[in-house]
Amino acid sequence: MIRALVCVFATLGCVVFSCERAYAHEGAAADQVTSQSATIQQGGLLFRSNCSICHGANARGGGKGPDLTTGRWVHGGSDADIFHTIAQGVPGTAMPANDLEEAEIRAIVSYLRSLAPDRHAVGSGDPVKGARIFFGSGGCNACHMVTGKGGVLGPDLSDVGASRAASYLVESIREPDKELTEGMADPNDLYNVPLRYDTVTVILADGRSLVGVAKNEDTFSIQLMDTGGTVHLLLKRDLESVRHEPRSLMPPYPPSRLGARDLADLVSYLEGLRGR
Ligand code: HEC
Ligand code: HEC
Repeated sequence: MIRALVCVFATLGCVVFSCERAYAHEGAAADQVTSQSATIQQGGLLFRSNCSICHGANARGGGKGPDLTTGRWVHGGSDADIFHTIAQGVPGTAMPANDLEEAEIRAIVSYLRSLAPDRHAVGSGDPVKGARIFFGSGGCNACHMVTGKGGVLGPDLSDVGASRAASYLVESIREPDKELTEGMADPNDLYNVPLRYDTVTVILADGRSLVGVAKNEDTFSIQLMDTGGTVHLLLKRDLESVRHEPRSLMPPYPPSRLGARDLADLVSYLEGLRGR
């Protein structure tokens, strides 16, 4: 009994403490925006009763308030910014201040995030966290080089931020097969059509096969880097077959593997890569 009471008090203490922090600091309050489905559901209910009248049933715009699912935020796109807009309103416009509870506002932000999880990736991530994912849990560096560090199976990403739009980066990570990267120009092609980073399967004369990307290829030979990173210089006359398939050797990173928040951080890291 006493033990149970102590637990209750300890929990209450924590709740009070976190509320105080949240009040003191909107950033800290917004930190607790989550992707838990119960919270998102609660946020959806709150949205429909307080906001839909202007922003439409599913936040897609309702005539009196803008679409909130486009991923573009006039008043700032971080969790803390959106929290602030909802709490304080936008003075001089129809967007009212709200006296919702902190937890309710967080639930609404979680709900809004859930509507366009990938578009959230544009312009709101933390590049420092993104770098940690790139070289850590994401394992991207196993195949990609950034300013001299990393693997070489995939393209060098040292200046990918200067050459690619955020939406392309999102697609490259979520669905690598959709648009394959073009590599260096094929030196043997008169029209200078670049080689694509497609998947190449070579069958050797003895029946063994190698899978990888072509780092170079002409009528007589192919330079194949296998998935282990070893480069094989092969003469085509020694091979059983060479097959190109229009799919990526990069594994897709669906939301179950890389959450919306992590994707946003990664993309903002990649967007900042602008030179060797
Ligand atoms: C009376 C109509 C009205 C209601 C009710 C209303 N809004 Fe708005 N909201 C607006 C208008 C109009 C704007 C655009 C303000 C501007 O011109 O920047 C806006 C802007 C916003 C923005 C900023 C979008 C951006 O691009 O940065 C957010 C976020 C937002 N509303 C969320 C909410 C939420 C959540 C609720 C419910 C708790 C709510 N609004 C209720 C009318 C409304
Ligand atoms: C097993 C190796 C491998 C891993 C791991 C890998 N990639 Fe890739 N990646 C590739 C290959 C091969 C390509 C080129 C083919 C294609 O377009 O998908 C590529 C292409 C890309 C491109 C497109 C570059 C351009 O300019 O077109 C981006 C961006 C990218 N990867 C980012 C990432 C990120 C971020 C991660 C980690 C979350 C990652 N990759 C993990 C192999 C890999």
